[in-house]
Amino acid sequence: MSETLVSLWTDVRRRLEAAGVDSPVLDARLLLEAGAGVSRLDIITDPRRPVTSEQVAAVDALTRRREAREPVSHIIGQRHFWTLDFHVTPDVLTPRPETEFVVEVALKELHPNKVADVLDLGIGSGAILLTVLKERPLARGIGIDKSERALTIAAMNAQNLGLADRIELRQGDWAEGISETFDLILSNPPYIASADIPGLAPEVARYEPRLALDGGADGLDAYRAIIDALPRLLKPDGVFAFEVGQGQAEPVTALAAAKGFVMEQPHRDLAGIPRVVVGRRAA
Ligand SMILES: C[S@@+](CC[C@H](N)C(=O)[O-])C[C@H]1O[C@@H](n2cnc3c(N)ncnc32)[C@H](O)[C@@H]1O
Repeated sequence: MSETLVSLWTDVRRRLEAAGVDSPVLDARLLLEAGAGVSRLDIITDPRRPVTSEQVAAVDALTRRREAREPVSHIIGQRHFWTLDFHVTPDVLTPRPETEFVVEVALKELHPNKVADVLDLGIGSGAILLTVLKERPLARGIGIDKSERALTIAAMNAQNLGLADRIELRQGDWAEGISETFDLILSNPPYIASADIPGLAPEVARYEPRLALDGGADGLDAYRAIIDALPRLLKPDGVFAFEVGQGQAEPVTALAAAKGFVMEQPHRDLAGIPRVVVGRRAA
């Protein structure tokens, strides 16, 4: 019997389940779309559409890569974040759902009618800053990354999203050399303790850039460097919001409080994990 869209989707899903992939249904659909050149709507509205042997072979090739635990975002070259599609390569961290909470906090802080200067430290693909700029048409931003290759991807995403004229991208080591001040400072820095990296899921440990993961011995190196620079970077009524890893909200809050910042209760993600640390200058 010849393959159809739905039978091929089921085959791929079973293969991914057997390989230990944790989102086999979604990933199988994404690989089917990319390999067979069909849309999500085609799969839903015309599931019994026959597929050619070329389409089967193309989907099989992508499935083999996913079975080897390469992230689906690297295989298809993109990731949906918030309401936008970001180009993603092995040079940038694949944007994560929990990072959308940083965007949520940022949007609460930025009034839609206010001109605002936003800084994103460790911009990667641009997921945080470009999403904020898309949602706040009067905001403009500077994005910093140590990785030149990541900046190339961020520039591509800025262009694709029509935001290139409101963003400036600079290579740098956290806040070094930044002379401007900002209404809002955002960061999702590397926060995994170095020794924990080999134990992460293969998608992360083998394929994500080490520079995007490694937070030093206790995972907090980047926060120390960034918080040290906050007093000179933040405007008088400025706010900062940082994503943190599990168990890090308390120490990161303490680091910022020790510099005299007034800290909010950390914002929790959907799993109830304190995920975003927010602070501002004392009045
Ligand atoms: C966890 S990733 C976050 C990427 C993106 N902001 C996101 O949320 O998806 C951290 C980023 O910080 C960058 N980075 C690491 N060390 C840095 C440093 N010393 N100075 C500037 N950026 C750095 C990495 O290259 C990476 O793009």
